[in-house]
Amino acid sequence: RRGVIRVPLWVHVIKDGALGAPDSAVKRQVRTLNAAYGGKFGGVDTGVRFELKGITHTANRAWFRDPFGHEREMKRKLRVGGPETLNLYIVQMERLILGYGTYPQWYAGAPELDGVMIDWRSLPGGPLRNFRRGFTAVHEIGHWMGLLHTFENGCDPPGDEVDDTPAEAYPTKGCPARKDTCPGPGSDPIHNFMDYSKDTCMREFTRGQAERMARMWQEYRAIAP
Ligand code: ARG
Ligand code: ZN
Ligand code: CA
Repeated sequence: RRGVIRVPLWVHVIKDGALGAPDSAVKRQVRTLNAAYGGKFGGVDTGVRFELKGITHTANRAWFRDPFGHEREMKRKLRVGGPETLNLYIVQMERLILGYGTYPQWYAGAPELDGVMIDWRSLPGGPLRNFRRGFTAVHEIGHWMGLLHTFENGCDPPGDEVDDTPAEAYPTKGCPARKDTCPGPGSDPIHNFMDYSKDTCMREFTRGQAERMARMWQEYRAIAP
């Protein structure tokens, strides 16, 4: 099997007074990332691993409360590394958003904006009942690694551009007992990290997703030796 992809990780914790992520939650989040990408909850071992290089701390109420309004300013101050380095910003976002990640193909056009922003409340042990396993970061980093939503393009090809995730017509909410929204083979991939199910429903990446991440890594993020 191909080699492991080691992703250098910098976490940037933004706070408003006492509000924001404690370092203990950041450390649990990193362990959750490696467990999820290692197939410990289900699905395949994707071969992707995250190596925490450091945590920065910034007290800034405006960045914390309106991260999109200050995205460029915040990232210009905090971002480190090149296309291979994951910068994870922990802020506060509207509840229905939870997180936001850039795609590898965007790096060339806007390297300064590359990275992932997540809500501090989505970290493991956080206060959001259905979103406190730390799978929001798993999902957003999936985008950063080049994965699309499993419901991308609905039932129409090329779907999410991955062969072994059955097509689905629309995002999954909660955790339905059964959901099969497209005529093709397979029921909806409601347990996949790249759907919109709640954290307690999510558990897996597929072989095809692992292969796509490896391909995207080589094409857009790996630094030539
Ligand atoms: N809505 C966000 C996105 O599309 C994140 C959804 C995360 N879902 C979860 N169960 N943690 O990127
Ligand atoms: Zn998403
Ligand atoms: Ca698919």
